[in-house]
Amino acid sequence: MKQTKIAIIGPGSLGILFATRIWQQFQNVAILDYKKERAERLASKGLTLIEQGETEIRAFPMVSTEPRHIGEQDFVLVLVKAFQTEAIVDSLRSLCGPKTLVISLQNGIGAGDIIAKEVSDGNLALGVTMHGANKNDEGTAIHAGSGLTILGKYQPGPLRDDRLLQFARILETAGFQSEVVQDIYPFLWKKLLVNVGINPITAITGLKNGQILNYSHLLAIQEQAVREGFEVMLRLGKDIGMDFQQLLDFVRQVCKDTGDNISSMLQDRLRGGPTEIDFINGAVVRLARKAGLSVPVNETLCHLVEFYSEVSG
Ligand code: PAF
Repeated sequence: MKQTKIAIIGPGSLGILFATRIWQQFQNVAILDYKKERAERLASKGLTLIEQGETEIRAFPMVSTEPRHIGEQDFVLVLVKAFQTEAIVDSLRSLCGPKTLVISLQNGIGAGDIIAKEVSDGNLALGVTMHGANKNDEGTAIHAGSGLTILGKYQPGPLRDDRLLQFARILETAGFQSEVVQDIYPFLWKKLLVNVGINPITAITGLKNGQILNYSHLLAIQEQAVREGFEVMLRLGKDIGMDFQQLLDFVRQVCKDTGDNISSMLQDRLRGGPTEIDFINGAVVRLARKAGLSVPVNETLCHLVEFYSEVSG
């Protein structure tokens, strides 16, 4: 029987989390990395996932910088940072055949549109995962939090896609609770608005997610940023099934639940690299322009985060 082939693009913390757990069940997993020497080290050392309770999972997927060596896959899971998407789209030509399903589990809004330039709408799915992982060393990640992974087609619709259902089953077998929905966009928006209200504030202040709750000035900025994003979403005709107050309460609950987390954007800033601001608050700014709304708080947050990337980059 033909073995299902799965490639994961990006050996970051989530890439390691998904690759190790899927490899444990299916073995036929390959990782595409863009750093040659790191890829060689990972191919010989393998990957390690430290689960809660400190158990370790080791995995030895193929790791290559050369998409042609990996070849055509059944599934390609994109887990690079949103700002790296442009740099990896070309590799999809070698990884994808007519039946390959590409799934992006990236943060923010916009990465899927970049992938859609290379992959037909019917072969593209987007998702949101509540799993959190932190990178320890190269090739090692710590599984920081669990939750649901929700998947849906790039073009929402009632048609069921057996490949997406099969992918959800693969994730389930690998221990990721998963659900396929007809319209992924409300879930993407809800996650986006959480990130809008947490990530730039932590990146600017250096605070952990939970510490935002201790400062009334930061809570005021958070409320305004989330409100602007919520209004853009309403203007675009999207609905997340929550009113503004419920959304704000949810954002604050996430601050509490992930209180000790160093947000992904603060991690990027501390590394001195670029951040996903352009796909989070920057996406709100772009969509607001289209909708004829002004979002000054989100614009200011973008400038401040970009400033920090510039001075520390
Ligand atoms: O980007 C992140 O860090 C996460 O999405 C979240 C929910 C803010 C938790 O740290």
